[in-house]
Amino acid sequence: MIPITRLTLGEAEAAAAADAVRSGWVMNGPRTAEFERLVAEYVGARHAVAVSSCTTGLHLALLAAGVGPGDEVVCPSFSFIATANAIRYTGATPVFVDIDPLTYNLDPDLVEAAITSRTRVILPVSQIGLPADLPALTSIAARHGLSVVEDAAPSLGAAIHGRRLGAISDITCFSFDARKILTTGEGGMVTTDDDDVAAHLRLLRAHAASVSTADRDRAARIILETYPEVGFNYKMTDIQAAIGVVQMGRVDEIVAERRRLGRRYDDLLAAEDRVATPYAPVGFEHVYQSYNVRLRTSRSQEDVMRSMLELDVATRRIFAIHDQPAYRDVPSHPLPATEAAAASTILLPMFVGLTDDEQDQVVAALSKCL
Ligand SMILES: Cc1ncc(COP(=O)(O)O)c(C=O)c1O
Repeated sequence: MIPITRLTLGEAEAAAAADAVRSGWVMNGPRTAEFERLVAEYVGARHAVAVSSCTTGLHLALLAAGVGPGDEVVCPSFSFIATANAIRYTGATPVFVDIDPLTYNLDPDLVEAAITSRTRVILPVSQIGLPADLPALTSIAARHGLSVVEDAAPSLGAAIHGRRLGAISDITCFSFDARKILTTGEGGMVTTDDDDVAAHLRLLRAHAASVSTADRDRAARIILETYPEVGFNYKMTDIQAAIGVVQMGRVDEIVAERRRLGRRYDDLLAAEDRVATPYAPVGFEHVYQSYNVRLRTSRSQEDVMRSMLELDVATRRIFAIHDQPAYRDVPSHPLPATEAAAASTILLPMFVGLTDDEQDQVVAALSKCL
């Protein structure tokens, strides 16, 4: 079976996690601080705040951007459910806007019409490795006095004209789950250039305690901390961060290999006119967390996915959040491009370690199934 992903964690990650365990400190601490420093430097942001997942990072980012009950957040429906769930956690309402049918990311031309007096934030998703149109979206946000909180869960390393995601939107959230560019098991990172936002994120992720556990443990005197607001326990552990530090040492190699595999799929599928391969606008640097194809055949998406599985090739699909039972009550703008993409695109196996042989098998299986 060729899986959708295969882990590439190795002995160096195992040793780093073991070192953290043996060090006597496993909570959020020095290894987390080091991981944060490496990610901030890599994306070019002033601050990186490690959290337990991208979902919890999005929750905190929205709170730090001032989102609360009664507010609206403009976002795509063509995403993972967590994008909208994080908005719901704050008491705000997601307002789904359609995607560009070529990039599968939020269509900036449709965003302006969705902005109301209750809109607080535009939340683009840089989906499966391709940056959202942040130049257009940040300029719309600036015109309306809104913040941009970006869900870049799958897209660490992606860039627009050489500027990496994480340093473009007001706040950017990344994921380190097992299928992402880097993994720490579970985990996330929130990046921002705003000192106040970063301080607020650090407070909120650790119960909003006025003094951290590490600082209290280090102090030679009694410190009685206070809790100025209701916070959360969204901390990353030093065991996870130790793995993340090792993974950051390989990030360039990982991104380069994913790009090579993406280009190779493009070449292998160039003559297959029953699928459309991914498109990236000029200057938008894809990292191919996933490789999606649009099916141009009379066979249904589910049929093709089932036939692929029978040929030992795993596939996945991205769904439309507004179609899920939990979101059917949320009014949305017309979403024809989202619905078409959700019904006709599939994701092919994509991971560092996918061999040329396996990639050839995936393409042969796909042609057979079409
Ligand atoms: C677009 C998107 N947003 C958010 C998430 C949630 O990330 P996490 O699992 O780290 O909470 C994912 C994960 O699959 C995702 O793909």
